[in-house]
Amino acid sequence: MSLDKNLNKILIIDFGSQFTQLIARRIRESGVYSEIISHKKVKNKNIDNSIKGIILSGGPLNVYQINKYSFDKRIIENQIPVLGICFGHQILSKLNGGRVKQSKYREFGLANIRKKRESILTKNFFNKKNINKVWMSHADQVSKLPKNFNVIASSQNSKFAIIENKKKNFYGVQFHPEVTHTENGKKLINNFIFLICKIKRNWSSKDQKIKLIKDVQNLVGENKVICALSGGVDSSVVAQLLNKAIGKKLFCIFVNTGLLRKNEEIQVVKTFKKKLKINLIYVNAENEFLRKLNNVSDPEKKRKIIGNLFIKIFERYAKRIKNVKFLAQGTLYPDLIESKSVTGSQTSKIKSHHNVGGLPKKMKLKLVEPLKFLFKDEVRKLGLELKLSKEIISRHPFPGPGLAIRMPGIITKEKIKILKEADNYFIQALREHNLYNKIWQAYAALLPVKTVGVMGDNRTYEYLCLLRAITSEDGMTADFYDFKKSFIQIISNKIVNSIRGVNRVVYDVTSKPPSTIELE
Ligand code: XMP
Repeated sequence: MSLDKNLNKILIIDFGSQFTQLIARRIRESGVYSEIISHKKVKNKNIDNSIKGIILSGGPLNVYQINKYSFDKRIIENQIPVLGICFGHQILSKLNGGRVKQSKYREFGLANIRKKRESILTKNFFNKKNINKVWMSHADQVSKLPKNFNVIASSQNSKFAIIENKKKNFYGVQFHPEVTHTENGKKLINNFIFLICKIKRNWSSKDQKIKLIKDVQNLVGENKVICALSGGVDSSVVAQLLNKAIGKKLFCIFVNTGLLRKNEEIQVVKTFKKKLKINLIYVNAENEFLRKLNNVSDPEKKRKIIGNLFIKIFERYAKRIKNVKFLAQGTLYPDLIESKSVTGSQTSKIKSHHNVGGLPKKMKLKLVEPLKFLFKDEVRKLGLELKLSKEIISRHPFPGPGLAIRMPGIITKEKIKILKEADNYFIQALREHNLYNKIWQAYAALLPVKTVGVMGDNRTYEYLCLLRAITSEDGMTADFYDFKKSFIQIISNKIVNSIRGVNRVVYDVTSKPPSTIELE
């Protein structure tokens, strides 16, 4: 991965901390561009004028396992301010003649640090009593202060909790200012980037829009680009960005698998073709998908069939557009960086994910990935800046295989119809009760069992509908949403009374792990 040379930035050198992505996000939230690079990849030649500050992240390593981390000392000798965090603080100390050893007491969790000396790094950071609560997570610590450094703050167990070498602009903190548990942690990071590195704000949604449009224009030139549009947030933002950048040279292909949410295909065509005037090819492949999925009930088989057929259909239509050179994809930053602990997709090992990304390799198209330096929240803001509606931008995630994986067992037209209705009632009710935006993802599923019920004076024997609603940061872990009984009652009545084929509703109260968000 190469760094963007055209934009001033704070460079974060990653030593494998679970919090590295948080450091980048905090800086970007303050309107400054930041990039992450692995300590294994960064070379002194990467350090150019666009880098206004360097942050050395935490990590699980030990500074004495010298062969396990390689780090070119010249990187910090470019007269660029450096902030070392946790393990980064220990390396910075070691490289400057300090000593690091195993702590007598490991510190995990909150600790109080006390101010010892004024520093520009801690301007307005401490409370009136000169104390601050910080988040520690370390087993080693600096045991001898490096030469020409001063102690700014100490905790009971870490004498050198904050240190500085003002002349060289080197700063080290044993704790994690990037996690929200550290009081005023963001203040400390802001002091580093604005007061010490003196970098100017350059990362608003408007800045991003202008830059990304220019980048796409430079990359694509007069060539044609195809893009698989799903109607989800990422592909919608990519399509609209490319539409603004290259207009009619963009060709979006939208495949209706028949496994979409109720009326989704109508909404996508209305929004993208009619309203945003994007070149959209609408492919109705409902019957083809249903034929291939006939009598298939194994979850992985379903996923593979859908993924493969999707690519086949996409290729079929893409070939009809002559002289295409590029394929646009909604790859995001967390997919690219090595430390995936915060928002990576470990889930892909559990299920074979299919989405509109990762499209046909054999077509030998060059990739346009305009969102590859953005986090999800930045993509949403960019979408609004590009005048996509709030409704599109705040939509819950929807998996590539669609309703097929919300319908354990075989897939039939009848089941799809019932499920679309149930899901629609659920989502509508969430919107009406102002719950939709409090929930990360919600959906209805249809279980392959029938149970007995009574309606009027008659016995019924119909399907079981499962509702799932979860809160989550990134889909990696999730908790079920705690609805009020009255809401659950309303929606269960609505579904059972309105949909023939369902006579019982259950609510899924498992978290992830041990469950997953989708059923298959
Ligand atoms: P799981 O079920 O793995 O889901 O806990 C985590 C998140 O990923 C979504 N998901 C998918 N998204 N293609 C996608 O684009 C897929 O094949 C796929 N499978 C699951 C799921 O909806 C949830 O948001």
